[in-house]
Amino acid sequence: MKTDKVLFVCLGNICRSPMAEYVLRHQAQQAGVGARIEVASAGTSGWHNGKDMHPGTAGMLRKHGISPAGFTSSQVHPSDAESYDWIIAMDDSNLDDLKRVIRFNAEQTFKLTDLIPESGYFQVPDPWYTGDFDETYRLVSAGSQALLRKLGLL
Ligand code: 4NP
Repeated sequence: MKTDKVLFVCLGNICRSPMAEYVLRHQAQQAGVGARIEVASAGTSGWHNGKDMHPGTAGMLRKHGISPAGFTSSQVHPSDAESYDWIIAMDDSNLDDLKRVIRFNAEQTFKLTDLIPESGYFQVPDPWYTGDFDETYRLVSAGSQALLRKLGLL
């Protein structure tokens, strides 16, 4: 059975990409396809390596019935382009940074909002600056559903 390997990427790997990681894993489990997908996340900066996710992200996951347990922040690695089938960024700056680190392939690496044009968003705003973790959850949840559909898992 084919397993799709997904890496979500943001700047700090404590707010947006951990939320996307935990939401996608949860949605796949809820849909009965948890074994068909492997999900991880990483940050371009490495600023929070070894740390837990932001309390705002953990709280938003809990609010939606998802356990935030077991997270450790890590940094994107050049080998990720070989290790993952899909590398999904939160904003244009993440894409620019990724282009400097991995062998870039636009079919493999794109923005989460590319999957949800109906949202009217072209990037996932950073709640580190906006404080709006509900907005992050709405976009991440819609984007994860769209990804499961793209992969033929819904
Ligand atoms: P994230 O948010 O990229 O969604 O994890 C940020 C987290 C930390 C910082 C910036 C953005 N920071 O400047 O430390």
